[in-house]
Amino acid sequence: MKNIPRLHFAHLPTPIEELPRLSAHLGGPRLLVKRDDQTGLAFGGNKTRKLEFLVAEALEQGAKTLISGGALQSNHCRQTAAAAARFGLDCILVLNGEMPDKPSANLLLDQLFGAQIIAIPDRNERDRVLQETFDKAVADGRKPYLVPYGGSSPTGALGYAFAVEELMGQMKDLRVLKELGGLDYIVFGTSSGGTHAGLVLGQRVFGFKGKVLGISIDESEEWLKSRVSQLASEASEKLGERIRFAPADVAANADYCAAGYGVLTDAEREAVTLFAKYEGLLLDPVYTGRAAAGMIDLIRKGYFTKEETVLFWHTGGQPALFAEKYANKI
Ligand SMILES: Cc1ncc(COP(=O)(O)O)c(C=O)c1O
Repeated sequence: MKNIPRLHFAHLPTPIEELPRLSAHLGGPRLLVKRDDQTGLAFGGNKTRKLEFLVAEALEQGAKTLISGGALQSNHCRQTAAAAARFGLDCILVLNGEMPDKPSANLLLDQLFGAQIIAIPDRNERDRVLQETFDKAVADGRKPYLVPYGGSSPTGALGYAFAVEELMGQMKDLRVLKELGGLDYIVFGTSSGGTHAGLVLGQRVFGFKGKVLGISIDESEEWLKSRVSQLASEASEKLGERIRFAPADVAANADYCAAGYGVLTDAEREAVTLFAKYEGLLLDPVYTGRAAAGMIDLIRKGYFTKEETVLFWHTGGQPALFAEKYANKI
């Protein structure tokens, strides 16, 4: 395997915990959770693993500024701003949404980390403004590195390929996983595809025998299968040898995102409440709440047998619980 530039700031391995009370309540399979909400950078989340590779690449290229974009309450942007602060880089974020008078949650944290915010009301303008911002930073000599939306480039996806290696190590060592005889499913929320692509690649490279099932937060099944297979193929080259993934190699379920990105429905509300009430565990309203709602519905439909073991990969995002948009609405 090639030597790939990587920084080490994530708190790894993240713990794996059992969810016995939730599992009993749902009458479903054995449930475990992998706590990537505890990855340690600015309240944690899935972007930490990606940023270990992305920031290493930026520094290697001599970058002085990280530029990225997302929604106003983007977890990815919050963690990117934190990583920039940690490594002495400037950060510019292009965020779509109405700038509130009093920023809260992720947006408040972006400012605390010293990021420059460019807020644009129209999401359709985001690509253009992001490109203009990047071009201007180049012209101004600020040596920018463009962190892709969601950290989802082949480089970022590597974070989740190596997360599977970490999981395989835990499967050998953890009492609970030894007793259960392994995992049948990994379930998680998927959106820009980097987490998904990394898991699919890691599954192949490190020989994980279970299934990897992404619950879509906002994209169609077709788009995800195509995007994730392409990202996983490109990421594999960085490991030294191209593996050709096809859309059919990717399992994605887009049955739970009809309400649209960030729209809280009774399904997310129930999932957040059940995890809190039965396990004392916090999900977020946008990503893990929706992914868990999908998993709960699949359990109720008998998609998993009672004898199977399902690992819910918690990808973080809890600061959004305190965003003006969601507070008091859960
Ligand atoms: C908390 C959380 N979970 C899941 C995701 C989805 O990950 P990906 O963009 O790699 O598909 C995101 C993306 O922003 C996120 O913030």
